[in-house]
Amino acid sequence: MAQPQQPQQARQEDDLLVFPSDWADKLEEYLPPHSSCSPVRTGSASNQQDHSQDSSNGPQQQQQQQQQQQPFLTLTYAQSLDSQLSLAPGVRTTLSGAESKAMTHFLRSRHDAILVGAGTAVADDPGLNCRIGGGGGGGDVLEGKGDKGARGPALGAAPSPRPVVLDPHARWQVRDSSKVVRLARQGKGRPPWILVAKGCVDGVAAESRRAVESVGGRYLVVEGEGEGDEELRATDAADKGSRGNLCWPAILCTLAAEGVRSVMVEGGGRVIDELLALGQRHANAQASTDDDDDDGHTRAVGTATVRIDSVIVTIAPVWLGTGGVTVSPARPAATTAGPRLKEVRWVQMGEDMVLAGRMAG
Ligand SMILES: NC(=O)c1ccc[n+]([C@@H]2O[C@H](COP(=O)([O-])OP(=O)(O)OC[C@H]3O[C@@H](n4cnc5c(N)ncnc54)[C@H](OP(=O)(O)O)[C@@H]3O)[C@@H](O)[C@H]2O)c1
Repeated sequence: MAQPQQPQQARQEDDLLVFPSDWADKLEEYLPPHSSCSPVRTGSASNQQDHSQDSSNGPQQQQQQQQQQQPFLTLTYAQSLDSQLSLAPGVRTTLSGAESKAMTHFLRSRHDAILVGAGTAVADDPGLNCRIGGGGGGGDVLEGKGDKGARGPALGAAPSPRPVVLDPHARWQVRDSSKVVRLARQGKGRPPWILVAKGCVDGVAAESRRAVESVGGRYLVVEGEGEGDEELRATDAADKGSRGNLCWPAILCTLAAEGVRSVMVEGGGRVIDELLALGQRHANAQASTDDDDDDGHTRAVGTATVRIDSVIVTIAPVWLGTGGVTVSPARPAATTAGPRLKEVRWVQMGEDMVLAGRMAG
């Protein structure tokens, strides 16, 4: 059953979690490579933009460049049997058992950044750090340290990923007491980055900015409206607080320009819905390009797409009942199903089932 997390909170912040190596091995093929992903980018976002607008590049080359620049992208979340993430917007709801929760922290140890939407930041006050014991993977890359491997000696917590909150309108009131700030101050998590829309950066509350910057965090401006992406919104987008879109390729480009090579997106409902829909577009476009290549023709890829490298979903044996925050991406057309996964693997962890897969075209 879903239970409030609050009573165990203090202890949980300090305890190190253990994730068995045989489960880790089963997930390995869905994770960013240890030593590589794409090369670390040191250029600024504006440099990238200039480059992508080079008139010598055709649409296909630009699309390829965007894909190369995009960090490895993993979508991961825990859902009930009725595809819900929480009992209601703003109600923090524990779905994962101890084993799949440890998996989430293992996944965090293998990514440079972990991203959630403003709805999750406001609702959950998340810590977004890593409490798996032992060495780490992607998380240490941003500071230029070597890759220590995901399951090194358990001498302390693995390096945490960079917490990233997508908060275009700067509505998340960050405080010194916000968990992500406290953990950064204690050296148990990295300083957060908050992604805001260009037009809203001047509206960041002074107290929020001070709290974020006091631990070395930053507000990063994302330029790029998600024009024409309305059809990607789920029909209940209004319930999810939809007030305007940033373009996902621009969001990911902004992170890539800061040296982020892998991003784990943990929620919430609106963020996951949008990315699943964009990922389906990408997978379909790839499939049709492959088909066209067979007979020597190519078709232009139209609207924005996002390459999703893997999807890892924890399914808890509980129905939350009507009224919760769902994952249910928009269909491409009334009679066409939403995205599908391929190359799937199911791993039982405690009482939960973990599904890993890649987007099918
Ligand atoms: N079970 C799990 O694994 C899990 C994980 C995470 C969260 N959750 C739950 O999910 C719930 C929150 O989900 P949610 O759907 O309400 O919120 P959400 O997806 O966390 O955040 C949605 C907000 O993010 C911003 N956003 C999303 N896409 C954007 C885009 N393309 N461009 C610009 N801004 C964008 C918008 O902020 P503005 O409104 O300011 O425009 C939007 O309202 C909470 O109850 C939380 O507990 C569960």
